[in-house]
Amino acid sequence: MNLETAEATLATPFPWPRMPVDPPEVYAWLREERPVTRVTTRAGETAWLVTRYEDVRAVLADPRVSADQRNPGFPLIFSANNRDALDKTRSFLRMDPPEHSLYRRLLSKNFQVKRIEALRPAVQSLVDDAIDVMLAGPHRAVDLVRALALPVPSTVLSWILGVPLEDQAFFNKIAEELGNLGDGSDPSLIDRAQKAHADLHAYASRLAAEREAVEDPGDDILGQLVKAAREGTIPREQVANIVLVLTIAGHDTTANMTALGTLTLLQHPDQLAQLRENPALIPGAIEELLRYLSIVQLVITRVATEDIEVGGVVIPAGEGIIPLNFAANRDDAHYADADRFDIHRQARDHVAFGYGVHQCMGQPLARLELHVIFETLIRRIPTLRLAVPVEGVPFKSWSNINGVSALPVTW
Ligand code: HEM
Repeated sequence: MNLETAEATLATPFPWPRMPVDPPEVYAWLREERPVTRVTTRAGETAWLVTRYEDVRAVLADPRVSADQRNPGFPLIFSANNRDALDKTRSFLRMDPPEHSLYRRLLSKNFQVKRIEALRPAVQSLVDDAIDVMLAGPHRAVDLVRALALPVPSTVLSWILGVPLEDQAFFNKIAEELGNLGDGSDPSLIDRAQKAHADLHAYASRLAAEREAVEDPGDDILGQLVKAAREGTIPREQVANIVLVLTIAGHDTTANMTALGTLTLLQHPDQLAQLRENPALIPGAIEELLRYLSIVQLVITRVATEDIEVGGVVIPAGEGIIPLNFAANRDDAHYADADRFDIHRQARDHVAFGYGVHQCMGQPLARLELHVIFETLIRRIPTLRLAVPVEGVPFKSWSNINGVSALPVTW
């Protein structure tokens, strides 16, 4: 990309269109030429984009950088008119230590590797059942999003969180509305996403109230939160706020990784064949998929609370920062030929799960679900292929979480 084209892109509001799985072309130019640069977001706010791997990690590990959205200068990306609603539903995702640490400590046992690993047989049955249904259908063709990618994480989430399985259709509808911002220029889609957020919060509040009304709230995450609120360890409103953040964080993420991951594997048939022959390669392939796709790409936002120097540039106190993990994960200075998908790469140090104190809490669960899903899909449907040309796949053009809204497959 030449200077003129890059400048023209930078003059338009952030974020810029993806390609559709690859990051916007200007990210590579920024990493080379302007690794820390000030932009205006579609919400009309200014923020510093950070694009190099080392700089993104440095920002995310810096205690002078805050994740608390209430701090002046905290940047919003798509729309600035819902700041109050966001403050009302603020969870530990948008808090700093020591407030943040309290919630991590409270919830961490639920996501420990050993505890998550114990779910493997149940997740395996779930995936096998979903694939049985696919194979039993009359047409040898399904939308993989609806048949597998969405139901698996939403069912697992309902087990650990303790929310009713019957509400899955509601979750899926909300996830779709939250994740569909069109090309970012249609205010009605942004309104719809904001309404979906409010509906989900109202739902979470109702669930919390129902659970509070029973004497023994139980041992699932909802029960643990209700107990903590009763004991005064956490404020009452945090029960619903945490249910809200876990529902969003644990649902659409794994679903989109499943769909986009499957698509990526189908587009690299040689590497897919290697996974089929040697399933021991699957965990490494999942790390590479996480790096390469970096689906959670517009969620990580911060603000400087003091002047800080990043990559030779001073970001003044009170200014917003968007550490672009998608750009960091495609940095050639850290991953040789970073735009190439390569299951043999050692990619586990990617920042697809973020970095620092907010690094994704659900990683063990995401890894387990993705492992069971890909291992089973590859083994049980070896002839899986796209049912439409790749140009016909409906990519989500603008979303905090990258993905596809459907993935028509056949076998
Ligand atoms: C492949 C799937 C997933 C990806 C790519 C992903 C990515 C991320 C990223 C990038 C962050 C950091 C946000 C920041 O620094 O501002 C994050 C945080 C978080 N994720 Fe995930 N996530 C995934 C799955 C899950 C699952 C399955 C759960 C739980 C059920 C979960 C729960 C959380 C929570 C609670 C946080 C907030 C942690 C904190 O602020 O301390 N995630 N995730």
